[in-house]
Amino acid sequence: MQIAIDGPAGAGKSTIAKKIAEAFGIIYLDTGAMYRCIAHSILMQGDNFNDIEKIIKLTEEAVIKFQGDHVFCNGADVTEAIRMPLVSLHTSDVACIKEVRKLLVEQQQKIALDQSVIMDGRDIGSVVLPRADYKFFLDADITERALRRKKELDARGIEKSLESIKQEIEKRDDNDRNRCEGPLVQVEDAILVDTTGKSIEEVCDVIKNHISGV
Ligand code: DC
Repeated sequence: MQIAIDGPAGAGKSTIAKKIAEAFGIIYLDTGAMYRCIAHSILMQGDNFNDIEKIIKLTEEAVIKFQGDHVFCNGADVTEAIRMPLVSLHTSDVACIKEVRKLLVEQQQKIALDQSVIMDGRDIGSVVLPRADYKFFLDADITERALRRKKELDARGIEKSLESIKQEIEKRDDNDRNRCEGPLVQVEDAILVDTTGKSIEEVCDVIKNHISGV
């Protein structure tokens, strides 16, 4: 079984995808974490985001692994580091490079070859798993999405105003929707789930009911 979850930042994709993976006993792949790993590696090496050749080389060489809730890049546990605001900001820079997307999409498709998966991202239903059994597009009101991000950052001790988070999310969404390669899109056969005002359980139920044909 293949399940694709797409949607803008803060729509609840990863939280929901994890729960659905648990409920159906399948693998969860956070594709955003893979793009984040590349941006993080570039920041760590002090490289700049205009050196496209270097970014591609780094992507070719990157060994990204998932173990439980942890993400490893070239052997280092980067779970927390890749969630930092600076990494979020620069991930759009690497996510718009055609070759980077091609390399990461290939890895994602390989993972889905011989096992049931749920993946979340921006191009899952359109590019990574165009033949997925189920496709969902999660969305939510911008203020609610910003509030969710603020809660996550607060929990990590990172202070940021709601307004600046809102602006960052809007900028990221704009980049994601308007890039040429693998843009954020709701494909025709995706089911739209508006998560505004809904609890995690309520959203999970909507998705589970679709999958179980209830
Ligand atoms: O889902 P996220 O916030 O962790 O994603 C981080 C960035 O990566 C976001 O700006 C969009 C990009 N991304 C992408 O281009 N394609 C994906 N399949 C997943 C994420």
